Amino acid sequence: MTSNILIAPSILSADFAKLGEEVRAIDAAGCDWVHVDVMDGHFVPNLTFGACVVAAIRPHTKKPLDVHLMIDPAAPYLEDFAHAGADIITVHAEAGKHLDRSLQVIRDLGKKAGVALNPATSESVIAHVLDKLDLILVMTVNPGFGGQKFIEAQCEKIARIRAMIGERPIDLEVDGGVNPQTAHLVAGAGANVLVAGSAVFGNGDYAASIAALRDKAVAAR
Ligand code: DX5
Ligand code: ZN
Repeated sequence: MTSNILIAPSILSADFAKLGEEVRAIDAAGCDWVHVDVMDGHFVPNLTFGACVVAAIRPHTKKPLDVHLMIDPAAPYLEDFAHAGADIITVHAEAGKHLDRSLQVIRDLGKKAGVALNPATSESVIAHVLDKLDLILVMTVNPGFGGQKFIEAQCEKIARIRAMIGERPIDLEVDGGVNPQTAHLVAGAGANVLVAGSAVFGNGDYAASIAALRDKAVAAR
């Protein structure tokens, strides 16, 4: 099991007019990964950006770009995001009919493969693809927007997935409503990667925000 806590600020809450600068700022503030939310206005009721924006921010950090694809279908775009410089590519279990194939394609592209689960989706959908996964992302809001309220009932699912993972080298990431008041809940349930958008970018001091999340999570492990 991965024991370190990793903090992945979501640039969804960054100032898009100065995205390169924002990425450099969270890098300097001590983030572990940069979380990139791609939305298609179809799988989720919001639009963000595509692979060209991943390519544009790539030169601004050496830290892993953790690309969360909220798009359906994702399969036609996996190669684009890999070539744009993504390090981890996460597809939703609910988007597309061939999860196993998408995970294999991501690994064949030389990237880490993740699967995301909406709040209403059972962890049973990943039982047969565990050996093709590098990351499992549990949504603790319904995807589409930053700044939503944390759905605490997801903590039971996080704990069950931690047990499913066992000794496999799979990161367990949580996304949505994670802040210093909820970080202990997800870390206590077994998550080791915390995504945070508004809790980092909503505060001028990014380093203090990242440190606060990390401290709360580490204390709960
Ligand atoms: C939601 C996105 C999240 C979002 C989190 O659809 O996947 O990554 O940016 O934002 P906060 O941390 O503000 O809930
Ligand atoms: Zn996300």
